Amino acid sequence: MKRVEAIVRPERLEDIVENMEALGHSGITVTQVEGHGRQKGIVEQFRGKEYKLMFIPKVKIEAVVKDELVEKIIDAIVSTAFTGNVGDGKIFVSNVEDAVRVRTKDRGVAAV
Ligand SMILES: Nc1ncnc2c1ncn2[C@@H]1O[C@H](COP(=O)(O)OP(=O)(O)OP(=O)(O)O)[C@@H](O)[C@H]1O
Ligand SMILES: [Mg+2]
Repeated sequence: MKRVEAIVRPERLEDIVENMEALGHSGITVTQVEGHGRQKGIVEQFRGKEYKLMFIPKVKIEAVVKDELVEKIIDAIVSTAFTGNVGDGKIFVSNVEDAVRVRTKDRGVAAV
């Protein structure tokens, strides 16, 4: 199992989730976040002064998925989140050791 954590543009959330679910995955956690990548926020001019927006609103989508689905999930997120402009987002993938479904006590991949 892997945790796929995608930090993307908020306006892309619904389409991304729909496309993830179309692949047969349904467990998803969504968090409103703020952050920046290489551009370190945005600098704007106002009446001759520079103002810096240090963090930009993004949405974080987390899904723990079975190994066979990881590449398909990544492809679905990338193709739906892409605009070609800076700030399109980033995906982090990490290993998950175990999972427990509280109601049934299912463990591991049966619990995701
Ligand atoms: N190395 C990182 N660690 C944690 N969060 C990150 C990291 N890089 C990016 N993020 C998060 O992802 C969001 C989107 O990043 P972003 O797409 O701007 O990445 P980038 O590396 O600057 O690429 P680009 O040049 O295409 O903008 C950021 O606002 C931040 O919340
Ligand atoms: Mg950036």
